[in-house]
Amino acid sequence: MNSIATQDNKTRAENDAGVKAFDIKCVRQDFPILHQQVNGHPLVYLDNAATTQKPQSVIDAITEYYTLYNSNVHRGAHALSDRATLKFEGARKTVADFIGSKKSEQVLWTRGTTESINLVVQTWGRANIHTNDVILVSEMEHHSNIVPWQMLAQEKGARVVPMKVTPKGEIDLVELDKQLSNVEFAAPVKMISIGHVSNALGSVNPIVELVERAQKIDAKIMVDGAQSVGHFPVNVDELGCDFYAFSGHKVYGPTGIGVLWGKEDLLNAMPPFHGGGEMIEQVSFTGTTYNTLPYKFEAGTPDIAGAIGLAAAIDYIKQFDREALMAHEHALLEYTWEQADSIAALQRVGTAKNNAGVFSFLVKGTHPSDIGLLLDQQGVAIRTGHHCAQPLMKAFDMPGTARASFAFYNSKEDIDLFFVALRKVLSMLI
Ligand code: ALA
Repeated sequence: MNSIATQDNKTRAENDAGVKAFDIKCVRQDFPILHQQVNGHPLVYLDNAATTQKPQSVIDAITEYYTLYNSNVHRGAHALSDRATLKFEGARKTVADFIGSKKSEQVLWTRGTTESINLVVQTWGRANIHTNDVILVSEMEHHSNIVPWQMLAQEKGARVVPMKVTPKGEIDLVELDKQLSNVEFAAPVKMISIGHVSNALGSVNPIVELVERAQKIDAKIMVDGAQSVGHFPVNVDELGCDFYAFSGHKVYGPTGIGVLWGKEDLLNAMPPFHGGGEMIEQVSFTGTTYNTLPYKFEAGTPDIAGAIGLAAAIDYIKQFDREALMAHEHALLEYTWEQADSIAALQRVGTAKNNAGVFSFLVKGTHPSDIGLLLDQQGVAIRTGHHCAQPLMKAFDMPGTARASFAFYNSKEDIDLFFVALRKVLSMLI
């Protein structure tokens, strides 16, 4: 364990030594994929809410693992396994520091946000949700924060109840307070599960206010951070939530790796998720005992390269002053809104006061999928459709939207090219 600590101290010391100035041209150089032509046009990648691109340092970290020290973790009696274990556990510490977790043991590796939510549902949920209990989710949730709860609710005879969303795309706290002031309704609320940032609208939800409400009624609160961690600093301890989940690939890391953070007492009390190697202490036919945190929840060989790649992504982000990254992304959004205002037929979908990285829109007389298709022909990548948020689309009475979503490597030129292409598309469609 000493050598892990030494390695982490070194990483911290390097980061403390100086924050790199944010220079969009230099940053773009770090992302090799951005420099290509797509359909005969320079790529304008505005589908970052679906997945972010990877800096060279992440690609190198993964290549280095497979080239130099590929081996299994925790169980080998050889140098390569020791090195892989150090890097793998160092990655856990990097994540813990990044999200303000008091202990590394509270950081569990999963395959992504979806699996993290399913883990909580199938362990904490199975043990704590009973007949007639209520699980509150918002109308703007991604399906992965609705369906797992519905599956549990169906089995247990519990209920998944939506929190209303205002036309701007904000949680309707007034409506929620009305619901919660009804003791008969509030008493069985056992869980509030909420996205930190809506993937379809970009609305940033008021987690601290929701935590206060959850605590008042003795409910737990789980936060789906898939769309937040890449955009602004998150400190789980300060938020006060019970569980927090995010995915590596939305913070410039690889796909297939994700994180579940939980309060230590809750994680300790929860039964295991998957059974297998690593998650056990002793196995016998008279009774098996389970490992301590975090291994109790990590059966089987983990995604070692993924964890190392995610830590490299976090190290990449940590080079910069996050305020500068946030200011850049916000300036991109404001510039986008200004440009959008000059297109009369364009309707912004989601105008929440706090927005992180998403511009969702409709254009009168056009279908979002036609817009997406014709933009792609000009090298502009966006997403169209219901964004895995069908209940939100129903609440807004729309079949879907077109969505441009930003990352800190997007430039003002990207937005200009997007609007040149969009105007061309609209001249063809309207
Ligand atoms: N949930 C991801 C998105 O919003 C895939 O595009």
